[in-house]
Amino acid sequence: MRRREGLAKLTGSEKYIDDLSIPGCLWGMAARSPVPRGIIRQIHFAKDFNWSEFVVVDHRDIPGTNEIFMIQNDQPVLAADRVMHIHEPVVLLAHPDRQACRHAINQISFDIDPLPAALDYRKVPTTEQIQYASDNVFAHLSVTKGDVEQAFKDAPHVIQGIYETGAQEHVYLENQGMAAWFDDQGVLTVQGSMQCPYYVVNALKHALKLDESRVRVIQSPTGGGFGGKEDYPSNLACYAALLALKAQQPVKIIYDREEDLAATTKRHPARLKHRTAVDDQGRLIAQDIEMIIDGGAYVTLSPVVLSRGIIHAAGPYACDHVRIEGKAMLSNSVPFGAFRGFGVPQAAFAMERHMDHIARTLGIDAVEMRRRNLIRDGQSLSTGQVINDGTDRVALMDLALKESGWAGHIKDHAAFNQTHPYLRKGMGLACIYHGSGFTGSGEVHLASKLHVAGLSDGRIEIRSANTEIGQGMLTVFTRIASHRLGLEPEQIVIAEADTSRVPNSGPTVASRTTMVAGKLVENACSDLLDQLGLPVHETGQVVVDAITAWHLDNPGQELVGTAQYRQPPGINWDDKTYKGDAYGTYGWATYIARVQVDLRTCTTTVLDFHAVQEIGTVINNTLATGQIQGGVVQGIGWALMEECCFREGAMINNQLTNYIIPTASDVPGISVSFLENPYEHGAMGAKGLGELPMDGPAPAIANAVADALSQLLIDQPDTIPLTPERIMSLTTPIHA
Ligand code: MOS
Repeated sequence: MRRREGLAKLTGSEKYIDDLSIPGCLWGMAARSPVPRGIIRQIHFAKDFNWSEFVVVDHRDIPGTNEIFMIQNDQPVLAADRVMHIHEPVVLLAHPDRQACRHAINQISFDIDPLPAALDYRKVPTTEQIQYASDNVFAHLSVTKGDVEQAFKDAPHVIQGIYETGAQEHVYLENQGMAAWFDDQGVLTVQGSMQCPYYVVNALKHALKLDESRVRVIQSPTGGGFGGKEDYPSNLACYAALLALKAQQPVKIIYDREEDLAATTKRHPARLKHRTAVDDQGRLIAQDIEMIIDGGAYVTLSPVVLSRGIIHAAGPYACDHVRIEGKAMLSNSVPFGAFRGFGVPQAAFAMERHMDHIARTLGIDAVEMRRRNLIRDGQSLSTGQVINDGTDRVALMDLALKESGWAGHIKDHAAFNQTHPYLRKGMGLACIYHGSGFTGSGEVHLASKLHVAGLSDGRIEIRSANTEIGQGMLTVFTRIASHRLGLEPEQIVIAEADTSRVPNSGPTVASRTTMVAGKLVENACSDLLDQLGLPVHETGQVVVDAITAWHLDNPGQELVGTAQYRQPPGINWDDKTYKGDAYGTYGWATYIARVQVDLRTCTTTVLDFHAVQEIGTVINNTLATGQIQGGVVQGIGWALMEECCFREGAMINNQLTNYIIPTASDVPGISVSFLENPYEHGAMGAKGLGELPMDGPAPAIANAVADALSQLLIDQPDTIPLTPERIMSLTTPIHA
């Protein structure tokens, strides 16, 4: 099946929020803090400037609570008496002319008494830097299994490592953008680029003190999200709505790239320490892991990112004794947020680099090391979750090795590296896994609802709050419904994600849309058949005829099949002890990178990349392959070139001229193979797929770099990005 919105995107007729012309619309913009931490004494508006043309909003204009509604609500919509990070919004302006707005922002200045800022999440804060609880720790979570202390006492080998990963920008093609207006009845409509319309509804209700009937949120076609449009759109929606309220006119805010890179969320920087007890054969006896992530200035989503991170930190391996401690720290930086993988990429980088270290230290082959430890059915992960899904993870790895030509390349590279004056080739692998859907009891709390309506012309309409963000949700939902009811794609309409029309089917995050919301599509289709008095497996023209007949009998009425999430049986999770079934199911994969390092420039080129991934069922091969290839490209960027440079907690390389992402010339052939092992509680047997491709590339590439440079390294490539500068610092020069 072709992408449903593909032609509109190809021809440029798709209307993103910036393309939407709204009569009488003003441009909005924020004046932001220039310092990382301080008390606001005064705000100066330049004297020789005509402020009467501008709508000006500050915290006193907020009718509801001055909080961005999220987990802990500690982030103000607009700074009131103090600022916690550079670029924190303090004053909002609106004006019919965008340039005038930009100019006016520079006519505002602040008197701020600076306070000591906490700028390195890895350092224990001084008393003066404490701003949250008694220690700046936003969240402290742990996983325990067995008796780690005892296991270490008896272990023949103990191997340690420290691993660090940097921040990463989403660089969605479409920057953040939002428009807001009030109608004559006082109903607020907010439309824009977002992943989670109902998150935005909740934020607007809270800050603008409106009940749900007076808030309508519509998702515009969205040019990429990757988690960057999971939490941040709630902030932007509040800014636009507050300006629209004061102006009594529509207001649109579209960030340009510099503002987007500077002021919005990024992937959490992380540091992990591994201490591992192993036997002579490299079998894991005990794992002691510490994960610290940089939360930035406010809590936002950091506790849940940390949660997913630590749950995956011990890798897809069997080990009886595990202790994982996780901390999310405050720093006076722009808050870090959701980004594809949500804590797992950081954890997987450390774990898979560490597996190679253990192998190297013990003189065991890196593949053999994994073969001996990969979890078999009947064994349990670190939370005690017993895996029994019938997937052969060793066979999966073997397939990846075969497809990548592993054994042959290892030989070729050895010969090549001995003779070439300045090029070195290497190969690395990563065995990874990713839990699908919300963690623990998260899906139960979401209690997602979804509707499938039978329209009077016999077509059906899927009504969900899930969003097309480039990943292919429109196409996949169409396919699921067409498969379930035996209809042609043209007989299926997907309603716009407009909260006045669609129920809350949950956020478009956490690799949950196909598996969880897609399953609701199937169930709502079943309910529709039930309401029509048709057997549960009826399909095709009979269904169409029954729908049209129903409408003839019930003119002007709505025919709606509904579904609500119900937890599959046999899932037990304890949120207090972090024990049990953290996820209903996991996707499994082996990713393999082959690289070449040029010792003259220390630049790394990825020569080829092989991904083998078990995803339950492939619903659309092109889209699924695209998800993996896109994730690999994003992973190449994070591993080798994407470096956020911070000064006083703010990104200073906030242009695409100096924040370097992969282009076509950096991307190798990426071969993708799927293994299918249908998951009965996912739509058509599908599992989550979209985030896992971000987990594997960085460790596979770093392992390959370590392999290529094995004769030259004076230090290990355990910190990413592996920029040429970093690789230069890790190697002995090849010439004097
Ligand atoms: Mo997300 S990182 O949109 O679950």
